[in-house]
Amino acid sequence: MTDTASSQGRTLADVEKGLDMPLQEAMVTQRAIRRLLPDPVDDDIVLRCIELALKAPTGSNGQNWEFVVVKDGAAKAELAKQNHRATSLYLGIGRRQSRGNEAMLRVIDAVQWQADHFEEIPVLVVPCLRGNHVPLVPMPPMAQSSYYGSIYPSVQNLLLAARAMGLGAALITLPLWSTTIARRILGLPASVMPCCVVPLGWPRGRYGPTTRKPVGEVVHLDRYGDQPWKG
Ligand SMILES: Cc1cc2nc3c(=O)[nH]c(=O)nc-3n(C[C@H](O)[C@H](O)[C@H](O)COP(=O)(O)O)c2cc1C
Repeated sequence: MTDTASSQGRTLADVEKGLDMPLQEAMVTQRAIRRLLPDPVDDDIVLRCIELALKAPTGSNGQNWEFVVVKDGAAKAELAKQNHRATSLYLGIGRRQSRGNEAMLRVIDAVQWQADHFEEIPVLVVPCLRGNHVPLVPMPPMAQSSYYGSIYPSVQNLLLAARAMGLGAALITLPLWSTTIARRILGLPASVMPCCVVPLGWPRGRYGPTTRKPVGEVVHLDRYGDQPWKG
């Protein structure tokens, strides 16, 4: 399923049954897939992912989201340039800090691979929020939380839908290092905030279990610091 020949021409009908995957299986195997094939992804599959993304909650049920689906080569090339700038800086620091950490170095290699092949990614979905906050006017933490909190549940739904239908996906933010430039590339008005980018394509690799901290290590009972389930 991950070679070029078999991914070509796959339709929604071919993959939609994947959405019946057990929820737990989708959740524990949804991981960032950065190495993608250049083969096109049917628009209906992308729209189905976004349709399921829209089942997520938003603050006050505002549904103040917009999703820009980027397929145009020139727009992808400009976003690739932005991504490259940000990754060069981030990966330089990351490599120095990750010496000896093989797992982190593997992630860095994958981020580098994606940056080097960014223009070949068939589809970029850019989840956005309407109702921009005014730059230079600090938002109280609660307002920030409900503002950005109104997009990320939908992004997670999108990632899970992609995973279930066998599409590779990841949540990335580095191409948006300058939201001013990103707005210009995407034709977004100042009132619409690009929040992240989800590259979509048929995966070169496989989904698999993610590595996370044990639950007891991050759960507190009643008051922070009381961790009866730790260890
Ligand atoms: C807010 C946020 C921003 C992220 N930005 C990037 C990014 O710019 N580039 C990238 O390759 N991955 C990005 N990631 C993906 C994380 O690196 C990834 O989720 C994490 O390494 C866990 O990977 P795994 O799910 O494959 O285990 C981002 C994730 C989040 C939640």
